[in-house]
Amino acid sequence: MAQKYKIIDHAYDVVIVGAGGAGLRATLGMAAAGLSTACITKVFPTRSHTVAAQGGMSASLGNMGPDTWQWHMYDTVKGSDWLGDQDAIEYMCREAVPAVIELEHYGVPFSRTAEGKIYQRPFGGMTTNFGEGTAQRTCAAADRTGHAILHTLYQQSLKHKAEFFIEYFAIDLIMDDGACRGVVAWDLATGELHRFRAHTVVLATGGCGRVYFSATSAHTCTGDGNAMVIRAGLPLQDMEFVQFHPTGIYGVGVLITEGVRGEGGYLTNSEGERFMERYAPNAKDLASRDVVSRAMTVEINEGRGVGPDKDHIHLHLEHLGPEVIDERLPGIAESAEIFARVDVTREPIPVIPTVHYNMGGIPTNYHGEVVTLKDGDPDAVVPGMMAIGEAACVSVHGANRLGSNSLLDIVVFGRAAALRAAETIKPGAPHKKLADDSIDPILERFDRLRNASGGTTTAKIRNAMQRTMQKHAAVFRTGDSMQEGVEKMDLVFASFSDVQISDRGLVWNTDLVETLELENLLLQAQATIQGALNRQESRGGHAREDYTERDDENWMKHTLAWVDPQGKVSFDYRPVHMYTLSDECEVIPPKTRVY
Ligand code: FUM
Repeated sequence: MAQKYKIIDHAYDVVIVGAGGAGLRATLGMAAAGLSTACITKVFPTRSHTVAAQGGMSASLGNMGPDTWQWHMYDTVKGSDWLGDQDAIEYMCREAVPAVIELEHYGVPFSRTAEGKIYQRPFGGMTTNFGEGTAQRTCAAADRTGHAILHTLYQQSLKHKAEFFIEYFAIDLIMDDGACRGVVAWDLATGELHRFRAHTVVLATGGCGRVYFSATSAHTCTGDGNAMVIRAGLPLQDMEFVQFHPTGIYGVGVLITEGVRGEGGYLTNSEGERFMERYAPNAKDLASRDVVSRAMTVEINEGRGVGPDKDHIHLHLEHLGPEVIDERLPGIAESAEIFARVDVTREPIPVIPTVHYNMGGIPTNYHGEVVTLKDGDPDAVVPGMMAIGEAACVSVHGANRLGSNSLLDIVVFGRAAALRAAETIKPGAPHKKLADDSIDPILERFDRLRNASGGTTTAKIRNAMQRTMQKHAAVFRTGDSMQEGVEKMDLVFASFSDVQISDRGLVWNTDLVETLELENLLLQAQATIQGALNRQESRGGHAREDYTERDDENWMKHTLAWVDPQGKVSFDYRPVHMYTLSDECEVIPPKTRVY
């Protein structure tokens, strides 16, 4: 097979796949540590999905009032509905403060207070004094924080002479006796195939929001790294936990930041009622996202939605006034105008809970190293492989992520991965020889899809998958509906064997790119819906009408899901880390959540 395709070889100390915030933070850190560093990305770095992150990055700087990393940690554990690993959460919340200061020094143009400090806004679930007050903890660059961070990290990576392979599609990992030795990628512009050798491959490939029909995620969010891990015979973790952001623009899915509610915006139903006061008397519109999304769904299901079909909710910010909107929320004013034809200074924005984030992903420890269950060890490190950002499940978000903990996660764990690589990899160390046929299975799959001549288009299969997942793995879930969804998804998965490609070329073959992405999505859809049916409780973003309570006795554990090439899923479990890294904080024991 190798003879059919010309292969261009490269060898680096580290290869990062993905150039969003996590990938770029790792890239710059590894390059700065003197490791030869390549970053492979299917889109231009500053077009990665981090660019769409709006509201901000949490860190207990205390610029707007008292704050501590222990309060941040408490909120994150509680927000995770006690599925988050507390060692990793401690690490993230402690490191948040130096991570933001470091970004400031790198040049991120944060918004400022009158005294010139970094401006911080309130976000859902972020409290002071262990749940008593509202914390202003989310560091913002207006409502374009991801954009600001992404551009700065790219500039820093270039400064440190990292090498970029832009518009290269990573096809699969090169595995050898359980270890990762590199990755094969396709240069979309020239059509050439490249084999990258590396002592460590870092997967920073983002989430798989596009498993669903309506998502705030870019169309590129197809979880390519997660799927490569599945094909390498390794499990994904907690894929059943999918976050619905309360405020996607109705009909189009574009994100309207939670920062709107942080700045004083609120939701109303068809009766003009601020209904969140009923569901969460303390936190109201700033309750955590799972709570707000469920409340909105109940309002709609009980006939109090707005619009001709009573199928969405109104988000108001008219009362904030044009000055606050211009200074703090200019981006969402523009999005609302373009995508909903709404002037936010006069009218509410039509919104609906929209798929936003995968809490699950590739299991890792807090150094970014991929782990698996091996010979009874639930934390066995997979040699040569790291995962960071939304692709990873560290797990700092557990069953539900707090808003603004994602930009934090990508920066802190991108940096952690770089620190670990600098500790464990000797610059320029020789690579172990690979067998001559080591990439043949990768090329065979690529070639088979390139020449696929079935009768069903990629778009048709993708549409069937997205509609099935939207309907059967939704905000509220029942066993019967998920069982029906599993059966439908099995058929959709099987239909991929009949996929039809019409472009056989290698240069900018978007037909083939979308087909490779679809195959990646299908594997993750199986892990998601079957994992959801398997977990018989309600926790965080996983709300079952037939098992309405959280069940700590039986289900306070991480799901591991292996997906075989036929789409069959098998499960095992890892324990939640109910221990901390230091004695400067305490383990936060499970309790009933009060909003
Ligand atoms: O609402 C937002 O600005 C999104 C932030 C996040 O998902 O962390």
